[in-house]
Amino acid sequence: MSEQAQNKVQKGAIGKKPSAKQWRPATQAVRGGANRSQFGETSEALFLTSGYVYESAEEAEARFAGERDGFVYSRFANPTVAMFEERMALLEGADAAKATATGMAAVTAALLCQLSAGDHIIASRAMFGSCRYIVDTLLPRFGVEFTYVDGCNIDQWQAAMRSNTKVCFLETPSNPTLEIIDLRAVADIAHGAEARLVVDNVFASPVLQKPMTFGADIVVYSATKHIDGQGRCMGGAILSDAGFIEDHVSNFLRQTGPALSPFNAWVMLKGLETMDLRVRQMSRNASEIADFLADHPKLSKIFYPERKDHPQHALAAAQMEMGGNIATFEMTGGKQQAFRFLNSLSIIDISNNLGDAKSLITHPATTTHQRLSEEVRLDLGVTPGMLRLSVGLEDVRDLKEDLGQALDLA
Ligand SMILES: Cc1ncc(COP(=O)(O)O)c(C=O)c1O
Repeated sequence: MSEQAQNKVQKGAIGKKPSAKQWRPATQAVRGGANRSQFGETSEALFLTSGYVYESAEEAEARFAGERDGFVYSRFANPTVAMFEERMALLEGADAAKATATGMAAVTAALLCQLSAGDHIIASRAMFGSCRYIVDTLLPRFGVEFTYVDGCNIDQWQAAMRSNTKVCFLETPSNPTLEIIDLRAVADIAHGAEARLVVDNVFASPVLQKPMTFGADIVVYSATKHIDGQGRCMGGAILSDAGFIEDHVSNFLRQTGPALSPFNAWVMLKGLETMDLRVRQMSRNASEIADFLADHPKLSKIFYPERKDHPQHALAAAQMEMGGNIATFEMTGGKQQAFRFLNSLSIIDISNNLGDAKSLITHPATTTHQRLSEEVRLDLGVTPGMLRLSVGLEDVRDLKEDLGQALDLA
C-alpha cells in the first residue's frame, strides 16, 4: 500500500468537524472529537476491538488501498483512540495528534521517526532520565550524534548548532528542578538551521502552556500524568502539523506498533473533560504550598516557577498561565533527613508518578534519576536532599498540616 493510501486509512472514518475548532477550550475538552455511534450514547463509546470486518472483499481492498475511509486494524487506528487524538489536537491547537501506549513511546517515536544516521540532535541536559537515555544511549547506537546544553543558556543552543542538526529537544519546566527554557528563542535558533523543535510538555500540561504558540514544531505528552490525572492508565501523544504527522509519525507508529489501547484512550477522553479544572486547582494548591514551605528552616531551597525567587520566574509568567502543580525543594539534612520526612507523611503518598489527583512525592536521586551517575545528577542539580512534590486535589489545609508534621519529625 502506498504511504498516501496508508495515511488515509489511518485517519479512520472520523471526519473533522469544522465547528469544533471554533469552540472555546472548555467545550472542546468535553465534546471535541466525539463521534456517536448509531446508538446515540451520551458518553463516548469504547470500541474494544482489534480488527474490523468488511461488507465485501472489494470493500476490504478499497479500505486497504486508502480509496475508502474506514478502520482496518487497531494498531493503525481505532474509533475511540481517534476521538482522543482529535480532542487532544483541538486542545493543543495542533493540526493533528497521534496517541501512543506511553509517554516514552511518544518521545521515542517523535525522535526516531525523523532522525537518521549522520544527523545531530541538541537536547537540554535537564530532562527526565528515560528521555536522556534515548538521547545519549539509544540514538548514538544508530549513528545519531548528540550535544547536551544548559537549556536556559540560549548561547549554548546557538553554539551547538551544526550543519547536520535536525532536532532541538527540551522539557520546560524540567523534571525535577523546574528549569524554564525560552521556547521562542530555541525555536528561532532551530528554524534558522531548518531543524525542528520538539517539546516535552508534560510538567505544564496542555492547560498551562502551549509550546506551538512559541514556535515548537512537535509537542509530546505522557498522558499518564495530568491527562488521565487519576492514576489509572498509561498513555502518550504526539502533536504537530498535519504534514509532519502524515509524513513521519503515522507510518512509523503503524509499522513499529506502540498503539494506545482503546480502553486507555477512553479513560483519557474522560480525563480530558476535567483536566482544565483539575490542573488549575492543583496549581493553586501547589502555589500555596510553595509559599508555605519557602521559609521553613529545614529547607534550603524551594523551586516553584511562579515564585519571585525562581531564577526564570519572568519567563515562566510569559510562557505559562500558572506555575503548575509540581514544587521541588531541598532539605538541609540531605538524603537521611529527606527519607525521614517522606516516611513521616500520612496523607501524601511516596510515589514517582505526577499530575494525579492524589498528592505524590518522590526522592528523584534514588527513583526517577537513580540510573544517572552521581556526577551527572549533581550537574543537573539533583541533590541528595531534593524532593519533588506533585500537588493534588486534596484540601490544601490538610496537605499543609501533613507537610508541617512531617517536617517537625524529619
Ligand atoms: C517529563 C516526562 N516525560 C516523559 C515521561 C514518560 O512518560 P510515561 O511514564 O507515560 O512513559 C515522564 C514520566 O515520568 C516525564 O516525567
